[in-house]
Amino acid sequence: MRHLSLAVIIAIFGGGVVAAQQPQFFNTVDGSPLNFDDAMEEGRDTEAVKEFLETGVNIYNENEEVMKEAEDTYNTMCSGCHGHYGEGKIGPGLNDDYWTYPQNETDVGLFSTLYGGATGQMGPMWGSLTLDEMLLAMAWVRHLYTGEPDTAGWLTPEQQEEFTPYKPKGGAEE
Ligand code: HEC
Repeated sequence: MRHLSLAVIIAIFGGGVVAAQQPQFFNTVDGSPLNFDDAMEEGRDTEAVKEFLETGVNIYNENEEVMKEAEDTYNTMCSGCHGHYGEGKIGPGLNDDYWTYPQNETDVGLFSTLYGGATGQMGPMWGSLTLDEMLLAMAWVRHLYTGEPDTAGWLTPEQQEEFTPYKPKGGAEE
């Protein structure tokens, strides 16, 4: 009996530590847990994917080295339905602070929406994008954000200080 309780205590303690660090991913519509078994082999173990699955932080956010690739990924895979600036088209706008699914306010939630899809034309992306490309598309969605920096919870405090809300008609924006 004593032996068993010790095992239980270790399990609870161990589990607690893991849960505190590792984000959990759930289907945006039905809340079922997501695992990434179906993800494409390619792009599974990049530095960005490993970091993201462990911490929920997307190191591509506002990372100048990948912004061009992020933009291209979004323009190829998302802009047809969500608009060139994320202003909304067939699909809802992605560049303001209104979300049909509030979990998209976080990058863990946004990633879950991409991986597992939502309803109708927003199908799951696991068959068309690698996990790494999902993080790139997300970084461009976040770059297109037109809201105030202090509502951009996906950015670090330092990044929030630097962040300029996107101006869709501004012309000279990147
Ligand atoms: C074929 C059209 C289509 C494509 C391509 C598409 N989407 Fe969507 N998307 C939709 C539709 C329609 C919805 C609304 C679905 C719903 O409300 O359940 C949606 C919903 C979403 C939402 C939820 C928005 C909210 O307000 O909570 C996000 C986030 C999103 N899409 C991101 C993306 C990204 C990023 C890409 C590219 C990787 C993409 N979508 C590609 C059509 C599309």
